[in-house]
Amino acid sequence: MSAALPGLAPEPDDVIEVEGLTKAFGGRAVVRDLSMRVRRGQIYGFLGPNGSGKTTTIRMLCGLLTPDSGRGTCLGLDILTQSREIRRHVGYMAQRFSLYADLTVRENLEFVARVYGVPQPVKAARAAVERLGLGGRERQLAGSLSGGWKQRLALGACILPSPRLLLLDEPTAGVDPKARREFWGQIHQLAADGLTVLVSTHYMDEAERCHAIAYIAYGEVLAQGTVAEVVAGAGLSTVTVSGADPAALMAELQGRPGIELIAPFGASVHVGGRDRAALEAAVAPLRARDGLAVRPDAPTLEDVFIDLMNRSQDNFR
Ligand SMILES: Nc1ncnc2c1ncn2[C@@H]1O[C@H](COP(=O)(O)OP(=O)(O)O)[C@@H](O)[C@H]1O
Ligand SMILES: [Mg+2]
Repeated sequence: MSAALPGLAPEPDDVIEVEGLTKAFGGRAVVRDLSMRVRRGQIYGFLGPNGSGKTTTIRMLCGLLTPDSGRGTCLGLDILTQSREIRRHVGYMAQRFSLYADLTVRENLEFVARVYGVPQPVKAARAAVERLGLGGRERQLAGSLSGGWKQRLALGACILPSPRLLLLDEPTAGVDPKARREFWGQIHQLAADGLTVLVSTHYMDEAERCHAIAYIAYGEVLAQGTVAEVVAGAGLSTVTVSGADPAALMAELQGRPGIELIAPFGASVHVGGRDRAALEAAVAPLRARDGLAVRPDAPTLEDVFIDLMNRSQDNFR
């Protein structure tokens, strides 16, 4: 799948490599000085709150939007001057379902195959049905599929023209957990076949399935790397306090110096901060209390994102 296509240089090791991308709408910068690198065969996760610039970035990468400044390449092609070329080799799955609700699964796939000039469109559509386990649903109208099956069909349409890079914009938003898991199984299969995948998501469990991630807020990349690197880089210490009413514990601990994060975890309270000694001092009085247990635990990716968000909000104000 990653073999060189006619007229194209062999795929570079860095499938995406951009520096200093900036984009403003109506005078407001929504992506600022964004740099990132995605290697061939990687599944790269794009995380961040709504409005943080994920979709805008994805659209700049595939040449649907021109950055105001910055430079970069996608599939070895210049994002400023070769966007038409790039679009021919990128599968872009937009946030909203964009297939025809009143065509069947097979008709949609054959239509996409024809639009993209895929040789033998009927055969290609059938192969996509096989590959994505859509068998048995070929004659079903796309509009009547459940969310999970719709996404599977959209993914099928995306890979029909044999792209070398997939840009998936929140492909699993609103899809149930089982279908999300299956969808991710397919993404991993495609990556194993040599496709590179950039995927935006809100789900922490999906972030954990990526080879590398970037967390973006207010148009800025706040952290980048493997999940383990991002968690370690945040330098957070956390403990779990259990044995008392979580709501009462939270009310008591909230705002104490050294406590920057506080969240209920079932019957316990999960507390964290960047200054380990200060955190320890904040929870020390609880250790002496009857029936209460204070145990160190590992910060989660969610802790790290919330902490990054809080700090970036502070910088923003
Ligand atoms: N075409 C546009 N014109 C004006 N504002 C836009 C346009 N596209 C996006 N925005 C704004 O840019 C910001 C970032 O949007 P977006 O990239 O869609 O974020 P995300 O995908 O992370 O939710 C938002 O505030 C959004 O309203
Ligand atoms: Mg978006």
